[in-house]
Amino acid sequence: MSINLKGKSIISLNDMKKEELLYLMDISKKIKEGKYSNFLEGKIVASLFFEPSTRTRLSFQSAIKYGGGKSIGFATSKSSSTEKGESLADTVKTVNGYCDAIVMRHRIEGAARRASDVSTVPVVNAGDGSNQHPTQTFLDLFTIIEKKGSLNNNVVGLMGDLKYSRTIHSLLIALSHFDVKLVFISPEALKIPSRYLEYLKSKDIDYEIYNDFKDCGKSLDILYCTRIQRERFYDPMEYESVAGSYVIDKEGLEYLNKETYIMHPLPRVDEISVEVDDDPRAIYFEQAHNGVPVRQALLGLLTGTIK
Ligand code: CP
Repeated sequence: MSINLKGKSIISLNDMKKEELLYLMDISKKIKEGKYSNFLEGKIVASLFFEPSTRTRLSFQSAIKYGGGKSIGFATSKSSSTEKGESLADTVKTVNGYCDAIVMRHRIEGAARRASDVSTVPVVNAGDGSNQHPTQTFLDLFTIIEKKGSLNNNVVGLMGDLKYSRTIHSLLIALSHFDVKLVFISPEALKIPSRYLEYLKSKDIDYEIYNDFKDCGKSLDILYCTRIQRERFYDPMEYESVAGSYVIDKEGLEYLNKETYIMHPLPRVDEISVEVDDDPRAIYFEQAHNGVPVRQALLGLLTGTIK
């Protein structure tokens, strides 16, 4: 099967084929090994971040610069003309004339799809509300392959804010292409929405549901932990009722297998204690660093400078 991502917008994992994911992983590996250089020379990428970000925005900036390209953009909506009432569509149509690709984060679900509908250049969804965060998933998959050798034959625990976490929603769709078992771990109030369980059933993916990682930790190859996102709650009381309801600390490590890798998209608040960072199973900073080669690969493929 020939893979051609040139000109394609990356909005949702639902739009991506298994072969495309594997091809992206392959190019990312080659980039990490130093096999491509200056492939973004002459290209300009616009970063439109209407919501805060450290890792996604800066690793994209780093990816663009390492690839020899240039970046423009804004890091907060306050420094864009949306503050004056400009529509998202008008912003995108304008920026189309300044760049070869757009990377966009927005608090509203569906904003990236709306942007891609009016854009003449590829749009990359860097997170839209509680919906999807595809490039986080790409670096998550890359990290799993690096550590486990394959995306197949893994039991993956997904823990925390399963209701609102866009990283969880994207990752489970991606993993459903592979031979995995998923274990959902969350407080009742943050359980995985039923539409995702229906989706997994339709793909014949085995899953289990727990409230506490201590009851299933020994069975996991990977424990993927997420933050409870205060900013997604409409009711502060609802946030307070679940905040701090799970913590991986030194004592918690005893409930994991000796080879259970601990991943986290970051930022963390208090769900993984700092004392866990030195454990060889804690790979979340390594995971964040993989954002650079993976985002380089993606931009190369979308702009057609890597085939
Ligand atoms: N993982 C992630 O999206 O981090 P940022 O919000 O810092 O970009």
